[in-house]
Amino acid sequence: MKAIAINGSPRKNWNTAQLLQSAMKGAECVGAETELINLYDLNFKGCISCFGCKRKGAEPCRCYLKDDLTPVLEKILSADALFLGSPIFFGDITGEMRKLMERLFFITMTYDDYSRAVFTGRIDAAFFFTMNVENQEHYKPIMENATAMLKRFGGETEYYAATDTLQFPDYSKYQASIFSEEQKKLRHEEQFSKDLQVAFDIGQKFVTK
Ligand SMILES: Cc1cc2nc3c(=O)[nH]c(=O)nc-3n(C[C@H](O)[C@H](O)[C@H](O)COP(=O)(O)O)c2cc1C
Repeated sequence: MKAIAINGSPRKNWNTAQLLQSAMKGAECVGAETELINLYDLNFKGCISCFGCKRKGAEPCRCYLKDDLTPVLEKILSADALFLGSPIFFGDITGEMRKLMERLFFITMTYDDYSRAVFTGRIDAAFFFTMNVENQEHYKPIMENATAMLKRFGGETEYYAATDTLQFPDYSKYQASIFSEEQKKLRHEEQFSKDLQVAFDIGQKFVTK
């Protein structure tokens, strides 16, 4: 049983990464082999419309653009569980996560029939989002759309959003008067451990399916 987590935050140890690490711990505790990949470490492009994957005779689910994402796509498609994580940047997933999704989902669709799944395996997949705002309703359409893409993998899908996250270790060092450091730290203490527990439970649940 293999679980792979993809961190679409530029920060390797902050909110998004911690949720993914917790999901991985949940998966590991029920025996999964896990790997976490930080997208911002990689040099890769989004889909460049080469249409290699749409050529007659092309191998199914193969992206013909070769860069640092090539082995990551292969790992994702051979995993049993996938955990994607992205902060919300300007009302959307991050640019790096968007690039991954373009590559990953273009190879799993065919212009012969939009409704046909090219990928014939099964991957249970969850998306974790983190954001500054407290009311996640603002971003529901984007979170639902991103999670709907995961249905192409034929398994369970789910998303979870950690809201009103702590953004800086020390707010007094930043020009950020719209935030109250006290409120942010209190929220972090009261809520973030619960968010991590949810992520852990999702990791465990998706691997035991
Ligand atoms: C460039 C940028 C844009 C952001 N845009 C939004 C936004 O539109 N809405 C929001 O709620 N938070 C926004 N945030 C805050 C982040 O989503 C939030 O702090 C997130 O938890 C950061 O994830 P990380 O801790 O994993 O890096 C933005 C942060 C940055 C750096």
